[in-house]
Amino acid sequence: EAIEKGGYEHFMLKEINEQPRSIADCMRGRLDAQNGRLVLGGLRDYMNKFQNADRIIITACGTSWHAGLVAEYLFEEFARIPVEVEYASEFRYRNPVLSDKDFIIAISQSGETADTLAAIELAKSKGATIFGVCNVVGSSIPRTTHAGSYTHAGPEIGVASTKAFTAQISVLTMMALKLGYKRGTLPENRYMQLLSELETIPSKVERALKMNDKIHEIAKEYKDARNFLYLGRGYNFPVALEGALKLKEISYIHAEGYPAAEMKHGPIALIDEEMPVVFIATKDSSYEKVVSNIQEVKARKGKIIAVVTEGDTVVKNMADHVIEIPATEEAFVPLISVIPLQQLSYHIAVMRGCNVDQPRNLAKSVTVE
Ligand code: G6P
Repeated sequence: EAIEKGGYEHFMLKEINEQPRSIADCMRGRLDAQNGRLVLGGLRDYMNKFQNADRIIITACGTSWHAGLVAEYLFEEFARIPVEVEYASEFRYRNPVLSDKDFIIAISQSGETADTLAAIELAKSKGATIFGVCNVVGSSIPRTTHAGSYTHAGPEIGVASTKAFTAQISVLTMMALKLGYKRGTLPENRYMQLLSELETIPSKVERALKMNDKIHEIAKEYKDARNFLYLGRGYNFPVALEGALKLKEISYIHAEGYPAAEMKHGPIALIDEEMPVVFIATKDSSYEKVVSNIQEVKARKGKIIAVVTEGDTVVKNMADHVIEIPATEEAFVPLISVIPLQQLSYHIAVMRGCNVDQPRNLAKSVTVE
């Protein structure tokens, strides 16, 4: 096992640190920005259906569902097709309205999640086209779907998903760009620009990982907190949900993720000097608004940990701690902004003496409903 961990203390830490490579592996042979090429083999035969779909429905569970939420922003922005993101367990029992004009994307690391499989069977029986985004080659979901793309992140052993999440987002990003280009909603020059930027993501993730020591220090200070709040807007809203889930899963600290603007409709009541609030406050279209949300937390003496874009000065002056990450296209930020949140939950869990790779009550793959 020590050999499998590659010198790391835990699989989760190894998997967090593997992300520059796993994201690059996911894009390898698919993305060639210099020649303006983006090829997803699994999509080829279904591109027509995809392009002409009335609606995209994404179904998944857990962390994969969070990747689906990021994809909602991606598909609507670039391809202008309406998207719904459904918990598989709700979708399958709701008698949903479906037709052969619906394109379903099922996301699953393991490819074995019972609820996701059942949601696929249901959608199939109503004539929809099902596309799988899975990590485990040859698992049940890829065998049940019409087509799909593997995430190629390599085996993920830690129960809390890390590198599978960023690989899922990588595949979904490539799908959204390709779809937008084919539909003409994403102009060629912009498409080319985005492809070039996408290619830089593995090296930017590498740079983000370097905040590890600073995050270790922050973890020391907050490891005994009883609650955590994670806030973000736009593309960083699903990241807030994922950050909170990671902390809950492995450290057993209660954490909630929220869209930052919704804070005033509830969570703000919880804020006092005991409450750490993690803001994802990167320089994007909602930056100014997030800054005012930070002010609201500060006014109530909450402790602010902010993930910001390198060089940020405004949030630096307001927050108790800042974690800097490299700038990128707004749509690609989740691939980078989730990294420090994975590291924060990891360090807190280790300091609390938790079993990071196999948290209590959780399973890597949930094959019963
Ligand atoms: C379990 C795992 C999570 C995972 C979820 C969905 O709860 O502990 O890490 O996100 O199942 O699994 P899937 O394999 O379908 O992505």
